Amino acid sequence: MTSSTPPSTDTATLYLHPDRNLAMELVRATEAAAIRATPFIGRGDKNAADGAAVDAMRKFLGTVNFDGLVVIGEGEKDRAPMLFNGEHVGNGRGPAVDIAVDPIDGTSLTAAGRQNALSVIAVSDRGTMLDASSVFYMDKIVTGAEGAGVVDLSQSVAENIRELAKAKGKPVGEMRIAVLDRPRHEGLIEEIRAAGAGTRLLLDGDVAGGINAARYESRIDMCIGIGGSPEGITTAAAIKALGGFMQGKLAPKDEAERAGGIAAGLDMDKIYGADDLVKGDNTFFVATGVTDGGLVEGVRRKGPIIRTESIVMRSKSGTIRRVIADHVASKWLEPDQL
Ligand code: FBP
Repeated sequence: MTSSTPPSTDTATLYLHPDRNLAMELVRATEAAAIRATPFIGRGDKNAADGAAVDAMRKFLGTVNFDGLVVIGEGEKDRAPMLFNGEHVGNGRGPAVDIAVDPIDGTSLTAAGRQNALSVIAVSDRGTMLDASSVFYMDKIVTGAEGAGVVDLSQSVAENIRELAKAKGKPVGEMRIAVLDRPRHEGLIEEIRAAGAGTRLLLDGDVAGGINAARYESRIDMCIGIGGSPEGITTAAAIKALGGFMQGKLAPKDEAERAGGIAAGLDMDKIYGADDLVKGDNTFFVATGVTDGGLVEGVRRKGPIIRTESIVMRSKSGTIRRVIADHVASKWLEPDQL
């Protein structure tokens, strides 16, 4: 092939015919949410932090050329004044998409001034995101690509750890397993340790936990346990872009929730793969750090500048970008916050 011969692989096709990367526009909305939540870090009021983030995210989403249907939002219309499930966001022009928003994943972390709070948006083509809002919790397992065909939610934790360690070519003793630190996970945590692996207990925020399990340069090998279903869908969008492995099984907390889920068309016994949670190959995922974490740094004030760090991913290309932005503090904060 001479240097002038056009490349002919799929990747090259993408290079020759670049199309729009919606995530590059959406990142402004997660940046805005993270910045506006910052004055509330460590102030003990998680609703105030969330409210500021929701408000900012919604304003910025309104400027984006798309017709976004909120599938995963802040809850039902009457409970959530904004970004509720079923709400349309964006300026209505451009592609029709499903959108999952989590203006802050880690509201309690933010209120306490702890690490790992993120502002998150995931987008996919219209009709492709599973609406799991009727069942609050989901049992999840997330790994890097090596987990495909090797780990499975139906297997024991010990087996999953052993098989993944084999696939990754590392001793079980070096495996690090992220799990939410909750009383419901006492048995699970014991099983992980009895298998010979180490836990990395998350106070909150299993979206970041899942992404860290799938990232190739991360020190976390697997993220497991029961967390929010909305966070499960958001994580699936990211995992598809990262090329990792994920499964989720709905975990209704009682019979009434189980019945509600079934009535909404959900299958309580099914092990959903990432491709069931978010269908298609056109997913976008963006996250901006609110507080510092293993994935991205939190919002930082540097004199007249506010610095944000975000991660921007897209499944079609597989490109993962880190976006560091400097914002003019006086344009963002109230005079008494400067
Ligand atoms: P919020 O910030 O929306 O409260 O979510 C934090 C979170 O830790 C999620 O990351 C996780 O999926 C979920 O809560 C777990 O729920 P619970 O705190 O009820 O165990």
